[in-house]
Amino acid sequence: MLRDVAAIFSEVLGSGAVVADEAGMAGYLTDWSGDHRGMAAAVLRPRSVEHVSRVVHLCREHHLAIIPQGGNTGLVAGAIDGQGRRAVVVSTERMDRIRSVDPVDFTLRADAGCTLQAIREASEAADCLFPLALGAQGSCRIGGNAATNAGGVNVLRYGMARDLILGLEVVLPDGEVWNGFSGLRKDNRGYDLKQIFIGSEGTLGIVTGVEVKLFPRPTSVETAYLGVASFADAMRLFAHARRACSDLMTAFEVIGAECIELARLIHPELNVPVTAPVHILMEVSASGPIDLRSTVETFLASAVGDGLVSGAVLAQSQSQARALWSIREGLVEGQARRGYHVRTDVSVPLSSVPAFVDEARATIAEGFAGWLPQAYGHAGDGNVHFNVLPPVGLNDAQARSTGKSIETVLLALVARFGGSISAEHGIGRSKRDAFWATAAPVHKRLMRSLKVALDPQGLMNPGCLLPAEDAL
Ligand code: FAD
Ligand code: LAC
Ligand code: ZN
Repeated sequence: MLRDVAAIFSEVLGSGAVVADEAGMAGYLTDWSGDHRGMAAAVLRPRSVEHVSRVVHLCREHHLAIIPQGGNTGLVAGAIDGQGRRAVVVSTERMDRIRSVDPVDFTLRADAGCTLQAIREASEAADCLFPLALGAQGSCRIGGNAATNAGGVNVLRYGMARDLILGLEVVLPDGEVWNGFSGLRKDNRGYDLKQIFIGSEGTLGIVTGVEVKLFPRPTSVETAYLGVASFADAMRLFAHARRACSDLMTAFEVIGAECIELARLIHPELNVPVTAPVHILMEVSASGPIDLRSTVETFLASAVGDGLVSGAVLAQSQSQARALWSIREGLVEGQARRGYHVRTDVSVPLSSVPAFVDEARATIAEGFAGWLPQAYGHAGDGNVHFNVLPPVGLNDAQARSTGKSIETVLLALVARFGGSISAEHGIGRSKRDAFWATAAPVHKRLMRSLKVALDPQGLMNPGCLLPAEDAL
C-alpha cells in the first residue's frame, strides 16, 4: 500500500518530493516535544501552489486524508496523527520563497514554507520589522504560524498572527486555489475570509502563501531584567511600565525563579543578574528620534524607589540583551530535556494572573507530592505556561497517568477563573477533548457548519481541533 501511495504522487511531484520510507518519514512523524508519534502513508513535499492543488485532487480521488505540516514545532499534536488513518503529510518546507517586500506599503508576501526567521530577516533588510517572534522562529514556518494563529513575545504591542496577516492564499479541500491577497489595509467587503483559515490548524485548507503587515524597524531597543517578590508585584509593575514607558513596551515576560534551573540545563554558564522569587524580562522599543534609554531609566528608578523591584539590570549592549533572552529561551528547551511533563498554555484576565498561579501551585503542592510547578509566560497578555515536572526517577507510564490528572485539575481551575485552555498554541489533538467537552453547543454547531461547508469529505486533518467523527 505504501508503495502505491508513493507512486501516485511521484508521478506528479517527482520522486524527490515523496518520502515513504520509515527512516525518512521519522522526523515528520515525531513532534518537537517527543510526546507524540504519528503515522502516514507518505510525506509529500510539493514546491508550488499548483502541485499542492494536484495533491489535494489526488487525495480526494484516493480517499487519503491530508495532514498539513510546516516546521513541525506545534505543541498540541496538530500536525501529528497517530490514528493510523490512510493519510499523507503535506509539508510546505520546499515552498520557501519570499515573493515580495514593499517598504512603502509595509507589506511582505511569502510562500507558506518560509521560516519565520527568514521572514523577519527579509523585513529587516528592507528596514522594516515583522514583529511575530517566538522561540521556535528558526524552524516554524509562516503557514504554520497562520494556521495556529501564533502569539509569542511581542503580542502586547503588535497582536497575534491574526492581527498581522493581510491576506492568504489557500488550496481548498476541493483543490481550488483561493487567492485572498489584496495588499489593502482597509477592505470591508463582507466576510473577512482569511480569518476563517487563521487558527484553523489545517482543518479547512492548506495555506500556500501569506501576506503580512510590516512595521518600521525599531532604532532603539532597551532590554531590562528585573526581580520582584511575587506575581502580584509583577502585574502591578506591568501596569506601571506600560504607562511610564509611553506604551512602547514590546515584551513583558515573567519567569518564576524555579524555572532558572531549567535554563541552566541548556546554558550551564548562565549569568542570571537578579535573585528574587519572580523575574521579569521586558523590552521597550521605538523607531525615530526618541530618548528611550532615559524613559526606561526613569521608569526603573521609580520602580526601585517604590520598593516594587528588588534588583534591575538594563542591557548595555546587544549581546547582553541576547544573553538575557537566552534565560527565557533556555528554560523552554530545558523543560523538553527533562522529558515528559505537563504543559499548559492558558490565559486569564491580567488581574487574575497572581491568584491563578498561587492557586495552581497550592493545588499541586496539596495533591501531587514531588511534582514541580514551573510558572512563566507572556504575563502582559495574561498568558501563563503553568507546567509541572514529574519527580525525578518516576517511570514514564506513571508520570503520564498522574500528569493527565494534573492537567484535568489545572484546566478546571482555568475555567473557574474564566480563562482559556489555549492562549496561543491552539487545540490540535492534545486539547481537543477538553475543548470539545466544555465548548457551548452553539459554538460547536458553528464550527461543524464551517467544517462541513468547506470540507464535506472530512479530508483535512481529521481529528485535529474537531473530534474525527465531527470532522467528516
Ligand atoms: P506545525 O507544527 O507544522 O503545524 C501546526 C498546525 O498548523 C498543525 O495543525 C498543522 O496541520 C497546521 N499547519 C501547518 N502548516 C500549515 C499550512 N501551510 N496550511 C494549513 N495548516 C498548516 N507558539 C506560540 O504561539 N507562541 C510561542 O511563544 C511559542 N513558542 C514556542 C517555542 C518553542 C521552543 C516551540 C518548540 C514551539 C513554540 N510555539 C509557540 C509553538 C509553535 O512554534 C507555533 O504553534 C508555530 O506557529 C507552529 O508553526 P509550524 O510551522 O511549526 O507548524
Ligand atoms: C513559550 C512557548 C512555549 O512561550 O509558548 O516559550
Ligand atoms: Zn508562549
